Amino acid sequence: MDKIIIEGGVPLQGEVHISGAKNAALPILVSALLTDGWCTYQNVPRLRDIDSILQLLSMLGAQIEVDGYTVRINAAGLKNAEAPYDLVRKMRASILVLCPLVARLKTAKVSLPGGCAIGARPINLHLKGLARLGADITLEHGYVLASAERLVGDEIYFETPTVTGTENLMMAAALAQGKTILKNAAREPEVVALADVLNQMGACIKGAGTAVVSIEGVPALKPVSVRIIPDRIETGTFMVAAALTQGDLLVRDCEPEHVGGIIDKLKQVGAAIQVGAKSIHVKGRAPIESVDVKTFPYPGFPTDMQAQFMVLMSVARGLSVISETVFENRFIHVSELRRMGADITVSGHSAVIKGVPSLSGAPVMATDLRASASLVLAGLVASGTTEVNRIYHLDRGYEAMETKFQKLGARIRREKSN
Ligand code: UD1
Repeated sequence: MDKIIIEGGVPLQGEVHISGAKNAALPILVSALLTDGWCTYQNVPRLRDIDSILQLLSMLGAQIEVDGYTVRINAAGLKNAEAPYDLVRKMRASILVLCPLVARLKTAKVSLPGGCAIGARPINLHLKGLARLGADITLEHGYVLASAERLVGDEIYFETPTVTGTENLMMAAALAQGKTILKNAAREPEVVALADVLNQMGACIKGAGTAVVSIEGVPALKPVSVRIIPDRIETGTFMVAAALTQGDLLVRDCEPEHVGGIIDKLKQVGAAIQVGAKSIHVKGRAPIESVDVKTFPYPGFPTDMQAQFMVLMSVARGLSVISETVFENRFIHVSELRRMGADITVSGHSAVIKGVPSLSGAPVMATDLRASASLVLAGLVASGTTEVNRIYHLDRGYEAMETKFQKLGARIRREKSN
């Protein structure tokens, strides 16, 4: 497996292009299952998770063509209703095929995703919602078996807003008979992006981006040609990198409206930020001030930026508290950051971070996607050499991260591990 080697201490300078959003691309590519002609998707990031979902769609019977950042999918030949353990285990978002399979083939057999590094992450709300639309659901030998002759619209209340749950049920409801209302729906920009695509396919979805989404089912959807929105988490990660290294960065081809919570925190930290139409200029300034952060569903501060922000607070002036309210076990990066000299104490859902003058490079191990990004950021600001091992996770969600940092002046390279 590859590793990343970083000699820290270089302030990042220059311009960085933001890739298409992984978390928007995944459900949107899956939505091709809802129709039976060629759909075209542009600005699809080149990532391991995208390869995994395309592999799954192909296994289900869809034809796939990939040409750089353009992906074409035709699900006319959709025939296999089973998403096997080997693929779902690699990427939880594979559960997104559940509702489209039931809507198109009347049946689905999808492996339960199981536990993952950042907590239990159940799918009970996906299943409860689908049952509400009339599907028979049983669990057998680690698989969800779902079937419905015709899904029928109903009211679904999410106990907690779930991003992929909202997306899954929007896809089911799009082809259901009658009206579905999703209450306490997730409001993430990726949910809105999927609703926009489904509407372009002929669906009738209103209210995406608010807590109440209503969907009037239609008998069929038509193929579509769309562009994937920019990745707000990659945007935030580069913004934090600029503030962290006292750099001067123009983050290009992003959607500033989607990162309001991050911009606000970085201003409080002392960074100078100028927002353009599709770009954000970030200039880091010393000292980095401490601020408290609490993660929330959108439009709150994203849990997917918590680990990266913790690195920034590790070298800030004073004390900060970072509270994680979305996932129950998302501080696995803390022990690695401590090995690099960070002063962090975890108590329940909160981490208390006492800023230190500098971090020191060390061999560290990546444990999940955003934790991996945080270790790379720590390496960029640490003295000496940092070796981030097991970067499999990084490649799942960040396109060519080390190449992008290299272009900004960072001394960073990828090496093959034994
Ligand atoms: C998505 C994102 C992920 C992000 C997360 C929260 C994708 C592919 N992934 O994950 O990057 O970190 O949103 O912003 O878009 N929950 C339940 N039951 C369910 C579903 C969820 O209890 O059936 C809980 C989860 O355990 C968690 C909370 O709801 O505590 C939010 O999770 P959810 O929004 O579903 O996360 P994902 O959609 O898996």
